[in-house]
Amino acid sequence: MKQSEKWKRGLPYVGNKGQKAEKIIDILPAGNRLVDVFGGGGSISLTASSSGKWNEVVYNDRRETVVNLLKALIEDNPHFDLTKYVYMDRETFYNWRDNMPDSIERTLVLTVWSFSNNLHDYLWGKKIEKEKLQLTRAIFWGDTETKLDGLYSYAKNETSIAGKYRMFHKWRLEKMNIRSRYDVLQQFQRIQQLQQLQRIQQLQQLQQLERLQQLEKLQHLEFLTLDYRSLKIGPEDVVYCDPPYIGTGKNYGGFDNESFQRWLANCPAKQIYISEYTQLPHTEVAFILGKKQSFQAKGKRPNELLLKYVK
Ligand SMILES: C[S@@+](CC[C@H](N)C(=O)[O-])C[C@H]1O[C@@H](n2cnc3c(N)ncnc32)[C@H](O)[C@@H]1O
Repeated sequence: MKQSEKWKRGLPYVGNKGQKAEKIIDILPAGNRLVDVFGGGGSISLTASSSGKWNEVVYNDRRETVVNLLKALIEDNPHFDLTKYVYMDRETFYNWRDNMPDSIERTLVLTVWSFSNNLHDYLWGKKIEKEKLQLTRAIFWGDTETKLDGLYSYAKNETSIAGKYRMFHKWRLEKMNIRSRYDVLQQFQRIQQLQQLQRIQQLQQLQQLERLQQLEKLQHLEFLTLDYRSLKIGPEDVVYCDPPYIGTGKNYGGFDNESFQRWLANCPAKQIYISEYTQLPHTEVAFILGKKQSFQAKGKRPNELLLKYVK
């Protein structure tokens, strides 16, 4: 995927379809309207809108602040100065999580700074947090009193997050003197340390869609924050469901799979597609999307399936 198209990934969000979104959009049948029932970070809706395959795309998710965050970034209204969020320690993160009311800004903080984008746990473990934050400090303020501080003057003239990040890579390559596997590992770990910057860059791209002249592609994107059972769906709509996966319902305040099955059976749309890891009743496998990309559950990563509902 080209750097300039990364905005289609939407928010770095748990369950984000990432690169698989393009494949899914290829497979879904064209039509008048696509309804993305459990839109999450928006990768499917954004990829769908920019594909031109449907006249209208509905991006729905019950989580209001997630939908509104994506909307705010795309419309750049309200404007967020994203450099404010490049540094966040554990204490501040948990303060946002536990003591602040739900808001777009809180969702932004929790998205960027949570482990696996789960909006709940801080990105790094207690023991390594200080060391991990050092690199960001060095780049933005140069006050770590380590040799990393050289980065500060090196990247000083760059004001955007993407610019600073680019300078970090340049600096890294210049300094790189790989003598051992240990050095390679250390380089790799440094890049990992800046994963939150990559996430913020992804958000910054969404803010810049107007400048990139991509905004007109999103004209027919509608934002909804309904429970899926309240969506108005017609027989000709193409419906795409990426529900909380079976067994992960607790992360979303309880997802009742039986109720979802009943809804599927009664949904008037003729074309319903579902992303899942296991085949559901009344479905056929339309495509095997491949293994989940994740740091967790190594070894037993299941295949992600695109299912077609059969009435
Ligand atoms: C697996 S995620 C979708 C990920 C998305 N495809 C992406 O690429 O980012 C499931 C989403 O379903 C939403 N959700 C859970 N229960 C819902 C309900 N009853 N109605 C609407 N959305 C719901 C959650 O808020 C969550 O964002």
